[in-house]
Amino acid sequence: MKVIRVPEKITKLLKAARNKGRHIGFVPTMGALHQGHSSLITQAKKENDLVVVSIFVNPVQFGPREDLNSYPRPLKNDLWLCRKHKVDIVFLPESKNMYPEGFTTFVSVEKLSNLLCGATRPGHFRGVTTVVAKLLNIVGPDVLYLGQKDAQQAVIIKRMVSDLNFPVKVRVLPTVRQKDGLALSSRNAYLNAAQKLDALVLFKALSLAKILINHGQQDATRIISRIKELINKKKQACIDYIAIVDLEKLQGIKKIDRDCMICLAVKIGKTRLIDNLVVKYG
Ligand code: PAF
Repeated sequence: MKVIRVPEKITKLLKAARNKGRHIGFVPTMGALHQGHSSLITQAKKENDLVVVSIFVNPVQFGPREDLNSYPRPLKNDLWLCRKHKVDIVFLPESKNMYPEGFTTFVSVEKLSNLLCGATRPGHFRGVTTVVAKLLNIVGPDVLYLGQKDAQQAVIIKRMVSDLNFPVKVRVLPTVRQKDGLALSSRNAYLNAAQKLDALVLFKALSLAKILINHGQQDATRIISRIKELINKKKQACIDYIAIVDLEKLQGIKKIDRDCMICLAVKIGKTRLIDNLVVKYG
């Protein structure tokens, strides 16, 4: 496994690989790798000749009062996991190489970036799309692997890829959950034992919404108030948003008469967690 830090170096290496006809799969990450990342890497290994994983805690996607400094960075463990999965190249850039002095160009997907998480995290998705655009240019993969857990991020990146003609296929793979339903996230590491129990309410709430829809409830407002009630029973839980939206534009749906996604963001103590569930109609 090669670990490369310099963008120009990896670009050159991968260009040579592409010229030899090798198919490249790319998994962008901020490290603190868990089984969710493992599932992306495993799939990428199955479908490509060469797999690249990037590990970069991207400063421009964090707000001024967010957890950039405390974000977990267990690099040794991350590299061990990549080795275990037989990743071919880990791209481990430094901030000064990704954002050298004078950097002023950003990529922003309008509208979609202001909804849901974008409303409480202004500038977050602009930071995500900027770094992903840069990474796609640096790596030049055939397939980009993303997780459904960050559903809004996936929708926005797909939009960017299509709007800006990036020659890459985007694969979005299912959320990996613990047995008790908690979606795997690097931020779960912030939770203490009691908070981990309270955090289970996210998946319970999504599951309740799914049951209500499957039993014929079509009124989104009613469903949302039922799951609000459930979440509010947890002392440490503070709801950021709960929404039922369509799958592409992420617009709120009032009457559930098509496939939809229930998505939510809830703070458990100081840790903001997100989760979602897609529900097929009929
Ligand atoms: O999902 C993440 O870990 C990050 O948002 C990403 C896509 C690696 C961009 O920094």
